[in-house]
Amino acid sequence: MAILRLTDGTIYHDRADIDRELAPLNIQLQDWPISNDPELLKILDQPQLSAEDHNVVLDHLDHYFEQLRASGYQMRDLIDLYANLVGLDAMLARFNRSHTHADDEVRYVVAGAGIFGFVRPDRSQIELTIQAAEQINVPAGTEHWFCLTPEQRFVALRYFRDTSGWHPNYLDTPILFRTALASK
Ligand SMILES: [Fe+2]
Repeated sequence: MAILRLTDGTIYHDRADIDRELAPLNIQLQDWPISNDPELLKILDQPQLSAEDHNVVLDHLDHYFEQLRASGYQMRDLIDLYANLVGLDAMLARFNRSHTHADDEVRYVVAGAGIFGFVRPDRSQIELTIQAAEQINVPAGTEHWFCLTPEQRFVALRYFRDTSGWHPNYLDTPILFRTALASK
């Protein structure tokens, strides 16, 4: 289940509280159940996935992609992050700084967990941990960053309308959360 933290130490687990805190950003957080198919669950329980596993996971969950196609999504892929992945630090370094994108950032977590930080319109910062079976839509232009939890396990589908919008535009906003700083 998602967890939301404020900079004053407040922690919310209840979805109504989390939705209220996310509302100024128009961020949508939804529960997208993962099927109970034993083959799929076995794959997702592994410490890392093969290329063939990627295809099986995508096939199992493409009914969600079909829904998104109606609103213009054209591509999806799967990212599989784990502690000893070659190049992990460099990859994370691209996104654990405050940035925006020209397109929405849509992620569906299917194993592990990830942490998004956001800057709200009043310049306050919040930190949202999302976990397996949760989908998030971060609107284009939202100032945010991303890092892993200490377990360093994150498997997620990414959905794109147009990959040309998929570049980070960096900002200089200092990040106030210890979690993101520890991941740098
Ligand atoms: Fe991003």
